[in-house]
Amino acid sequence: MSEGPKTTEEARENDLEELSPHAARSRRRFLSQLSAVAGGGAATWHIVGCGGEGGDNTPAVTHDEPAEVKGQDPHVGPGQLDDYYGFWSGGQSGEIRILGVPSMRELKRIPVFNRESATGWGQTDFSKKLLGGRMAGDTHHVHLSYNNGTYDGRYVYVNDKMSARLARVRIATMEVDKIVDIPNSQGTHGIFPQRHKTGLVVCNGEFRIPQPNTGNNLDDPTKYASMHTAIDGETMELQWQVMVEGNLDLAATDYEGKYSFATCYNSEGGVTLEEMMGADQDFLYVFNLANIKAAVEAGKVTIINGAKVLDARGADGDYILRVPVPKSPHGVNVSPDGKYAIVSGKLSPTCSVVQIDKLASAFAGEIKPRDCVVAEPEVGLGPLHTAFDGKGNAYTSIFIDSVMTKWNIDDAIKQYSGDTSVQPIRDKVDVHYQVGHTNASMSETKEADGKWLVALCKFSKDRYLNVGMLKPENDQLIDMTMDKLAIVHDGPAYSEPHDAVIVRRDLIKPLQVNDRTDDRFTMYEDWAKEDGVDLMKDSKVVHKGQIVRVYMTSQAPKFGLTEFRVKAGAEVQIIQTNIDNVDDLSHGLAVCQHDVNMLVNPQDTQSVTFTASKTPGVYWYYCSWFCHALHLEMRGRMIVEA
Ligand code: CUA
Repeated sequence: MSEGPKTTEEARENDLEELSPHAARSRRRFLSQLSAVAGGGAATWHIVGCGGEGGDNTPAVTHDEPAEVKGQDPHVGPGQLDDYYGFWSGGQSGEIRILGVPSMRELKRIPVFNRESATGWGQTDFSKKLLGGRMAGDTHHVHLSYNNGTYDGRYVYVNDKMSARLARVRIATMEVDKIVDIPNSQGTHGIFPQRHKTGLVVCNGEFRIPQPNTGNNLDDPTKYASMHTAIDGETMELQWQVMVEGNLDLAATDYEGKYSFATCYNSEGGVTLEEMMGADQDFLYVFNLANIKAAVEAGKVTIINGAKVLDARGADGDYILRVPVPKSPHGVNVSPDGKYAIVSGKLSPTCSVVQIDKLASAFAGEIKPRDCVVAEPEVGLGPLHTAFDGKGNAYTSIFIDSVMTKWNIDDAIKQYSGDTSVQPIRDKVDVHYQVGHTNASMSETKEADGKWLVALCKFSKDRYLNVGMLKPENDQLIDMTMDKLAIVHDGPAYSEPHDAVIVRRDLIKPLQVNDRTDDRFTMYEDWAKEDGVDLMKDSKVVHKGQIVRVYMTSQAPKFGLTEFRVKAGAEVQIIQTNIDNVDDLSHGLAVCQHDVNMLVNPQDTQSVTFTASKTPGVYWYYCSWFCHALHLEMRGRMIVEA
């Protein structure tokens, strides 16, 4: 374990002390009064019943009576900082969101596959180049880069299911620095980085397509296949693809760098719903990374659309082991001790516990793949995903029952081996409603700390004001430090954060001003060199045939140019460098009547290219981010001449 989490009241008070010594003292006084009332140090409050349909086979939790429990205080007061960063995917919005946990306050949105007016993402020259003209996305899974089983604080990876892409956010800048297209894939769904170091990021193709998809076998789905793809997490370059027959759903990796995992539904190879649900059994696919690497290096590949593809369809072999599990599994999550891959049943009320250190014997043919399953507890109707507390318990989101089920892994193993005296289910709590993903603080690392659990519910129904036909979703915060699970907060969410990870705040250290080291700066520096410009000093107009390059500094409350002249219909490229070297002193550039709006952070450069109006006239450009008392005066004229 590295240095422990700063999750204590003291840590919060230290923050507050820095920000406001008076407020910190007041809070301490308040807490000591509370302790006196409660007869202890912990905060005390009431959980009020919520009814609803509960689970089926368990120590049912009745929440009809108010129950007095002691747990963590989820309240983060004015001026206080959260203990955790939550990285949420943004679903159909194509973005990533950062929430504070436990406050569940939304702190930031990072545009990824979407066009965003506030930052100019999708319009700046750099983002346009990354997006290649595409303006929509569907982000599902966010995961951070790892070292030695925990987050290394460098990158966030996120998939685009719609256009089969993987994007990377550099945590230092909280901006996308790379996007890679994944060939031969549609519906790229589950992704997961390796955890022993920043190595591969594996990406699952969910939809089966003809390979190559160039007009062959259109009406012969038996020939369709999907890909398990490996991208290098450092270079973001495609490494290899393994071609399989079934749909690949969620992904995971082990903690040692030996295996990657994919749940596989529709091993039948059907194309209709009925066909896809035909068989009673599907699989957890286990990919043997050393064997795959050796085969790729030995050239045992077919090149399809430039990708090195290994064909692993059909029978088990060196590359894949197919561990049979009940039909149509969904999530696969690896326990923080690295021992078990837990496959959630979706259409089966069970979770299958796969013991990872048995997989080598199964690959060697010494035991059957199914012998790696060491437990299969019944957890409720529609299990989807599983989180962990680092204390041997698993927390599975149950979609149909709308509950979170807490169960003990060791007891599930004992029960499966015939011990009838144990009951693995510890608790169930109703959530609102139809929970999809779940995750817990540091749950996807060996430092899982068992503090906070989130249930990302797909429907909020009547729990918020009616805002029209599309309702918010409901991200519920659950205190997991007690024997019983306690919902402590409802968090409305705009469509549709599929998944989230919750990261200790000491692991995340973003910059205050840009360090100008991202690859995109070489692009600006190359232009500047070509035109004899110093980006940090000069404001200058350079005419290059039909293109006019406008280099311009910004420093509150002034642009480096108060006017520039272009011909009607000219191509204009504005390259703006914010030379302010002050925290949070961002400027913007909006150009009236030209559909241009972008953000330029302190010490950053951004550029945008557009066509000047065909109608001669005066067009003001102005700073669009509040920067100074004279922010409104921070503007200039683009004079368009006939
Ligand atoms: Cu510069 Cu507002």
